[in-house]
Amino acid sequence: MSLVFPRPNTNTVHGKKDKRLMAEVNASPLKHFVTAKKKINGIFEQLGAYIKESASFLEDTHKNEELDPVTTEEQVQEVRGYLTKVASIGEVLARRQMKVVFFGRTSNGKSSVINAMLCDKVLPSGIGHTTNCFLRVEGTDGNEAFLLTEGSEERKSIKTVNHLAHALHQDEDLDAGSLVCVMWPKAKCALLRDDLVLVDSPGIDVTTELDSWIDKFCLDADVFVLVANSESTLMQTEKSFFHKVNERLSSPNIFILNNRWDASASEPEYMDEVHRQHMDRCTNFLVDELGVVDRAQASDRIFFVSAKEVLQARVQKAQGMPEAGGALAEGFQARMFEFQNFERRFEECISQSAVKTKFEQHTVRAKQISEALRCIMDSVHIAAQEQRIYCLETKEDRQDRLEFIDNQLDLLTMDCKAKIKKITEEVEKQVSNAFAEEIRKLHVLVDDFHMDFHPSLVVLKVYKNELHRHIEEGLGKNMSERCSTSITSALQATQTIMIEGLKPLLPIPVREQVDKLVPRQCFSLSYDLACDKLCSDFQEDISFHFSLGWTMLVNRFLGPKNTRRALIGYNNQVPRPMALTPVSTSMPPFPQSAMTQEELMVSMVTGLASLTSRTSMGVLVVGGVIWKAVGWRLIALSVGLYGLLYIYERLTWTTKAKERTFKRQFVDYATEKLQLIVSYTGSNCSHQVQQELAGVFAQLCQQVDVTRQNLEDEITDMNRKIELLNSLQSKAKLLRNKAGWLDSELNMFTQQYLHHSK
Ligand code: GTP
Ligand code: MG
Repeated sequence: MSLVFPRPNTNTVHGKKDKRLMAEVNASPLKHFVTAKKKINGIFEQLGAYIKESASFLEDTHKNEELDPVTTEEQVQEVRGYLTKVASIGEVLARRQMKVVFFGRTSNGKSSVINAMLCDKVLPSGIGHTTNCFLRVEGTDGNEAFLLTEGSEERKSIKTVNHLAHALHQDEDLDAGSLVCVMWPKAKCALLRDDLVLVDSPGIDVTTELDSWIDKFCLDADVFVLVANSESTLMQTEKSFFHKVNERLSSPNIFILNNRWDASASEPEYMDEVHRQHMDRCTNFLVDELGVVDRAQASDRIFFVSAKEVLQARVQKAQGMPEAGGALAEGFQARMFEFQNFERRFEECISQSAVKTKFEQHTVRAKQISEALRCIMDSVHIAAQEQRIYCLETKEDRQDRLEFIDNQLDLLTMDCKAKIKKITEEVEKQVSNAFAEEIRKLHVLVDDFHMDFHPSLVVLKVYKNELHRHIEEGLGKNMSERCSTSITSALQATQTIMIEGLKPLLPIPVREQVDKLVPRQCFSLSYDLACDKLCSDFQEDISFHFSLGWTMLVNRFLGPKNTRRALIGYNNQVPRPMALTPVSTSMPPFPQSAMTQEELMVSMVTGLASLTSRTSMGVLVVGGVIWKAVGWRLIALSVGLYGLLYIYERLTWTTKAKERTFKRQFVDYATEKLQLIVSYTGSNCSHQVQQELAGVFAQLCQQVDVTRQNLEDEITDMNRKIELLNSLQSKAKLLRNKAGWLDSELNMFTQQYLHHSK
């Protein structure tokens, strides 16, 4: 299966192309103006939109307070100025039309020529002085023709054109210099569709106000047509009028129509002669007198026509009748061609000229404006670029600083931790040593305590409390004398090192204030000994003990605890093994051999004790035994000495002695207890130091964090600015390119329509 595609119909394609070519060839030269006008209007519309866009862009940019200014107030004003300027030019351009004014003496056929061109009897014509004011024929989009008189908005019926403009109708109060607009439907006439305006005038021989006419009707005219009468010759009035026009306008486009040439048909023998004569005179007038054309081009400006015949033929044709019908003079066809030739030359001339005079200046202006805008956008682009580079550099710098801070902070944190660890260890050691030392000298402190002592319970309680306080104060004082200065200075040195280490991470203004920002409160170690709690269960023993009494003797041999046990528990019991764990944690465990020895001692003394406590019989037996052994004198001496000693000891057991004993017992007890908290006190102090240093370090880190945060904020800010500037730059670039594009459009327009010559 194969697909068969239909071949393109080349004939059709060619046919279309040919038609288009034909249309172009046949198209009125007036189209040149029409297309140029369309084009330039389009460009101005785009220019207007572009300036509007630029103005709002510049205004927005100017108002933006986040960025440094990239535009100036003057630039904004300048562009705003262009906006109104271009809008008004655009309006003017949209209203631009080609204008041809017909001049000549009365009855030469000016109105007839216009009617012939419009292919209709639009304007009144007739023998004698008919046209009494300026008549401007213009196209209107509606189907109804109407009139507009100067200074009035009222639309008048076209029927009154005869009344209005006809010199014979004096009822209408119009002077020769006034203007009536004849609005003729564009649908009825191709010329009017192509933006052509035709102006009819009263005969120049009937007025004295030629100068004011020129001012009022001629200054914006693109072409002047002098309608002359071929039955006579160029008159001085006609010539002098054009001299005046030529003085006011630089080389005006002038056509001369030798009208009523149909009359030559009645005198064919002189026709050529007259033709040549008219041609020579007209050529001389245009070339030599006015100097508006070259001699070679003069033949394209001078024509021999019969407006009456052309009008008649065209009206008849429009009515469907043969155009050559009726009583037409000899040579009509040639005169018809001549008229068409005139029309073509005229159209070429007027469209070329009008494009140049009506659009060139504005094209130049538009080019200047687009160039100025391009410059402005360029400057905005450059300013934004510079600012963006600055922002990028700042961002990079902040990022570097942030990275540096992060790295440095890691290092410093490690370093500081190590330092803190070291100093805490040192402090712990120092405090422990000092405390141990102080404990050793505790008896001095206790001896220093003076207060009325009395063995009664109430007084003792107060005494103990005061003693606790005294010791706590004394120990605290001694400890701080020993340690505080060195610890504080070590601490401050470490703080200073930490601050100096972290300072470079802070911004300069903060660096100077860092001492204020990181408050170092006066550090003082607190030893927190809590003596009252520690020694709360201290139980003194200040009852009288005779040094040679049983208890004391046993005590002397066995120590206070075993004595009690021995005296209470071993009365008549078999010795049993002792608890291996000592009661006091500070006491080392007894070796096994010591235990055995002690056991022996205990059994012996137990024996003795039981002997004394049981019966006096026992005493007598023992006395008898000793009696026999040592003799009574020695015994009596010993008993006497013993008694004396007892009395002596009993007498010296005063309050003072009790206090001493109390103090000794207390010292022993407190020493034991305080030794338990040596390591605790050391670690407590080192903890305080660690807390202090960690606090300072944390505060420094907080300051660094503030700095970090500021840097991060700045980076975010820069990122936002960069983004903003990026979009600003690309918009400025876009607008700059648009200006360039408009400029090239204008260049193309200039090339195509203004430098174009045929
Ligand atoms: P004013 O408006 O009075 O200045 O005159 P005009 O120049 O407008 O002349 P108009 O067109 O009114 O023509 C005057 C008379 O000349 C009319 O009766 C026309 O019919 C006649 N006429 C115009 N053109 C020709 C022509 O080419 N041949 C002949 N034979 N008569 C013409
Ligand atoms: Mg007239």
